[in-house]
Amino acid sequence: MIDTHAHIDDSQYQEDFDAFIAAQKQAGVQRIIVPGINADSVASVADVCSRYPDFLFPAAGLHPEEVKEDWASQLQTISSALDSYDYIAIGEIGLDYYWDRTYVNEQKEVLRRQLAWALDRDKPVIIHSREATDDILSILREFPGLQGVFHCFTGSRETADILLKMGFYLGIGGVLTFKNCKLRETLATVPLDRILLETDSPYMAPVPYRGKRNESRFMIHVAQLLSDVYQVPVHTIDKATTANALRLFWKK
Ligand code: NI
Repeated sequence: MIDTHAHIDDSQYQEDFDAFIAAQKQAGVQRIIVPGINADSVASVADVCSRYPDFLFPAAGLHPEEVKEDWASQLQTISSALDSYDYIAIGEIGLDYYWDRTYVNEQKEVLRRQLAWALDRDKPVIIHSREATDDILSILREFPGLQGVFHCFTGSRETADILLKMGFYLGIGGVLTFKNCKLRETLATVPLDRILLETDSPYMAPVPYRGKRNESRFMIHVAQLLSDVYQVPVHTIDKATTANALRLFWKK
């Protein structure tokens, strides 16, 4: 299994970091992508990833919730980081209208600039979208040729169809295990070769760990539900999603 989205530079992991990593490896996790969220996280992400360079892979980007007056200087810091290291992806980036709509225009500008970086640098993008589906789809359409993942996908069948046609992958995490989750029906029309596993750690822990600190090894519970949805053994889900992550992020 590859966890394509885990914020393990979060302070909740630092106390038992080495034991935490050992437990993930022990459980069969092969790689973890650690996305950035702002200028400050460039350093914290680099710090944890440099300790396990063949296991942890950093991404860099300005998350929409982190877009404030200082967005231009934050982008400057992130762009310099991208110049100095071979990041696995640009992310996480996107639009989030849920908490605060003060900087909606700035969020769009910041997203467009980072999507342009991704095309220039031939990097996949990790997209965050909350309450912003129409705007995000129309901005993504301005950048044909983009590759990436729609992280924590919980959208409709219609949105899934549009994203699949654009060539995007869908990141599936703990939400799939929550009661009354409609995602199971949506996934019935999504080919398995477009699904990525992810946690969004420390958030979104799957049942039976809901509310706890999330860990990449808990993805097995998501894989088990996917095995029901696709009517294939769990190891087939593991093999397929790992191959998908390698194709998108490592071009293998
Ligand atoms: Ni995230």
